[in-house]
Amino acid sequence: MGIIFSGIQPSGSLTIGNFVGALRRFPELQNENKCYFCIVDEHAITVTQDRLKLRDNIRSLAALYLAAGIDPEKSTLFIQSEVSAHTQMAWILQCNSYIGELERMTQFKDKSEGKEGVSAGLLTYPPLMASDILLYNTTLVPVGDDQKQHIELTRNIAERFNRKYNDIFTLPEPHIPEHGARIMSLQDPTRKMSKSDENLKATIFLLDEPKQIEKKIKSAVTDSEGIIEYDKENKPGISNLLTIYSSFSNSSINQIVEEYQGKNYGTFKQDLADVVVNSLTPLQERYQKMYQSEELDDILDRGAEEASQVANKMLKKAKKAMGLGRVHLKR
Ligand code: AQP
Repeated sequence: MGIIFSGIQPSGSLTIGNFVGALRRFPELQNENKCYFCIVDEHAITVTQDRLKLRDNIRSLAALYLAAGIDPEKSTLFIQSEVSAHTQMAWILQCNSYIGELERMTQFKDKSEGKEGVSAGLLTYPPLMASDILLYNTTLVPVGDDQKQHIELTRNIAERFNRKYNDIFTLPEPHIPEHGARIMSLQDPTRKMSKSDENLKATIFLLDEPKQIEKKIKSAVTDSEGIIEYDKENKPGISNLLTIYSSFSNSSINQIVEEYQGKNYGTFKQDLADVVVNSLTPLQERYQKMYQSEELDDILDRGAEEASQVANKMLKKAKKAMGLGRVHLKR
């Protein structure tokens, strides 16, 4: 049995990128592994958030986890800021990270580029993520391909700590899907689809209404060739739509390309919209029920308690390994 940790930031409403790259892969993992699923709200505040929206996004994300099939009897679902060991461990790991390696992270470069007043938290995001993972002896981290670099850094920090102090951390492996690893923006298909993208036409949200989904897909950027084929370099727009189609159907990209030979982009986009809407409707119905329920609060309370018990043990080990705290003379 493996130990799995995965977190999603409540930094906006979830996109189909978050769904394909992360959320929808979680339920099948919980039968064979011990899973910790976390709403990583402390990561979300590395950039300024609207207080009321953040609170709503946290509850909404918890409801989406459950709607996607997370079973609280099998898995631990909790909010990061309700388990204080995460930020405490993050400080320990920051002290074992180098500024140079943090500055090399693609996500830091993307989010800080051209911005004034970049928060220190944006730079130290990876040691907090390392803390999330290492607190639970995690062996596998299911993420989209964009997060691979952070998992590699987590391994480096853990190895460094184990070598320097004591061999306490398990080195995690990333678990990345073969297909649909990265869903791209509908408006700029060279950039990944992100929940915090200011251009709302670029992103399909999991809770979008059918009409909105259809409209966004119809206005997705393609090219003027009118030929449906997969060529990421020269036809990034249509290639991204093919990836989305394949991710939401049981067909491979090759099968879809064959099916749409000689057909136009308009027909393809309409069919794609139907495929996405049909997949998301049952999820949205389950979500509405969960969001309103008090049961959701009970699940999160229980989750925070379970997670704290495990995390505090590892935090104690790390503190001891580094010599933090005092020598006890009294028994
Ligand atoms: N476009 C994507 N395609 C595939 N997987 C994706 N993920 C995110 N975007 C895509 C995966 O979703 C999980 C949760 O991500 P996160 O919220 O922790 O952070 P993120 O990667 O920064 O997600 P966003 O949507 O881009 O959020 P913002 O806009 O706040 O930065 C991860 O497993 C990620 O791989």
